[in-house]
Amino acid sequence: MTSPLLITGGTGTLGRLVVARLRVTDCSVRVLSRRSHEPGDGIEFMVGDLATGEGVDAAVHGVGTIVHCAGSTKGDEDKARNLVRAAARAGTQHLVYISVVGAERIPVVSGIDRAMFGYFAAKRAAEEVVTHSGLPWTTLRATQFHDLMFTVVQQLAKLPVIPVPAGVRFQPVEAEEVAARLVELSLGKPSGLVPDIGGPLVYELTELVRSYLRASHRLRVLMPVHLPGKAALAIRAGANLAPEHAVGHRSWEEFLAGRLHEVVSYRHAS
Ligand SMILES: NC(=O)c1ccc[n+]([C@@H]2O[C@H](COP(=O)([O-])OP(=O)(O)OC[C@H]3O[C@@H](n4cnc5c(N)ncnc54)[C@H](OP(=O)(O)O)[C@@H]3O)[C@@H](O)[C@H]2O)c1
Repeated sequence: MTSPLLITGGTGTLGRLVVARLRVTDCSVRVLSRRSHEPGDGIEFMVGDLATGEGVDAAVHGVGTIVHCAGSTKGDEDKARNLVRAAARAGTQHLVYISVVGAERIPVVSGIDRAMFGYFAAKRAAEEVVTHSGLPWTTLRATQFHDLMFTVVQQLAKLPVIPVPAGVRFQPVEAEEVAARLVELSLGKPSGLVPDIGGPLVYELTELVRSYLRASHRLRVLMPVHLPGKAALAIRAGANLAPEHAVGHRSWEEFLAGRLHEVVSYRHAS
């Protein structure tokens, strides 16, 4: 019997897809979550909180590889620290981490930077924790997932007048494609920092908002706003993009059509 793989964040958008892909291999899969779940489909769930460290030792016990997909808008450095400490005690052989494109290029120096883009600094700090953990590691940086951009534009579209940060672009990628790459990396040897993964095309945020409004038959006024600070400057210069690694295939348009179809079908069914 081979050691199980542990997927932190295995209940999230990305982690769930990683778990599903690993389930169809011979691997035994364990998931760490803050809530208890019924075991299902051969998945073992462990309750633990990476922010406090509670339950993490038990979750990493006997695990060969950890795919660290747990994350939130704040505190990813602390979560990584609690995880690597437990993993080092347990003698984990490979830690795979998902970070974000631009983590090392978006300076977070002022309070304004931190308030708006502190996420990137936390991801960078978590990368450092992984790099210096003493564990064999692999880190993949991805651009924003389609799902995240969809949530953003959906929220913005609730406003009658939509403030859209001027000059901000995104290169959304399909989470399923990121999951496939993470699985490939987790089944391979520790590789350090690997090439980024980004979606096939770069869009102005305005284009993403307009395409959503068009596809969902909404009329709104868009109001360009200028974001202050060094982090915003770096973002306008494209620090969050990886056009040289536009390896994703599924476009935003394809994703959007599929997601809106799901929403309409759900409304008809309920
Ligand atoms: N979304 C993007 O566009 C994007 C782009 C690049 C990189 N990433 C990175 O990819 C990873 C996954 O993103 P996602 O969008 O799939 O996230 P998500 O859907 O928000 O899921 C977050 C996951 O993290 C777990 N989690 C959060 N806090 C935790 C804690 N204190 N202890 C244990 N588990 C915790 C949650 O598990 P429970 O609720 O079950 O506890 C959940 O499964 C994150 O590290 C994110 O930074 C995301």
